[in-house]
Amino acid sequence: MGEGISDYTRFVVDLRRHMWMAGVEMELRRLIWQIAVTGKYISAKIHESNRKLAGYKNLYGEEQLSLDRSADEILKNQLQYSGFVREYASEERDAVIQIGKGEEKYFVTADPLDGSSLVDTNLSIGTIIGIHKESVFTRGRDSMVAALYITYGPLITMVYSAGKGTHEFVLNREGEYVLSQEHIMLEERGSIYSPGGLRKDYTKKHLKYLEYLEAAGYKLRYSGGFVPDINQVLIKRGGVFTYPALMKSPRGKLRLLFELQPMAFIIEEAGGIATDGEDEILSLRVQDLEQRCPIYIGSRFEVEKAMEFLAAN
Ligand code: F6P
Repeated sequence: MGEGISDYTRFVVDLRRHMWMAGVEMELRRLIWQIAVTGKYISAKIHESNRKLAGYKNLYGEEQLSLDRSADEILKNQLQYSGFVREYASEERDAVIQIGKGEEKYFVTADPLDGSSLVDTNLSIGTIIGIHKESVFTRGRDSMVAALYITYGPLITMVYSAGKGTHEFVLNREGEYVLSQEHIMLEERGSIYSPGGLRKDYTKKHLKYLEYLEAAGYKLRYSGGFVPDINQVLIKRGGVFTYPALMKSPRGKLRLLFELQPMAFIIEEAGGIATDGEDEILSLRVQDLEQRCPIYIGSRFEVEKAMEFLAAN
């Protein structure tokens, strides 16, 4: 039998069916579905940018929105008409905006297009979403009910967790998100490390930790895109991503609300851990949208080892 035939006769589990079978609550299911579909529109927008790379000028000489701002507009509009979202906080905006009537159940955070500066290099980029059941100005542990990210790479994939494990879907040729890996679980210990920041800016303790990983034979895997770098740790079933406190920026680089909380939720559901070197990411209280925070995230062994190095005298 040809490959094409078996492909179409195989029973596939699509995203909606999976969430229904997993017992995800109906409104949350619909919201996650809506966001996954929005990923297709964002992907189409990314593809439009190939005209710019190919040297085309906008026909009417209008100024075009940057890709990340376009992605933000697309997301905001889709969420606004979903009927499930009360407030929207985006990495592209200065303040939380009310997009519902005030009765809706969910509060959504978005990094609409993380790593957008990598588009011209044709590396993977992504969208990161957090879904909360109350105001985001609290601990992730108290407010988060789900998180997801979409990778725009050679394939478009979507990884979500609604507190019932972490699952990966791949967008197929028919435009459906089809289950590719269910209940992804990290090994206790992995073999890759993904270190953000410059070596010259590291603290002594962090540098010692990296030297430990290097001596232990960990392979360097860092693309400069948070989504593909975390995705790599998840899909390879272990390892560590870190963007530490730096001498010149003790709060690190990555944003607690838009980047770290959603990834911490997803990785914890896959049996891993995420800390700032001392405390769990999901136990940290969000005070403002811009709040940054150091991160060590991935397999239990590597993250706990980082905490040991940082606590040592
Ligand atoms: O926050 C944006 C971001 O591009 C992340 O996607 C990525 O992990 C990080 O910054 C890369 O930072 P740097 O360029 O310092 O390695």
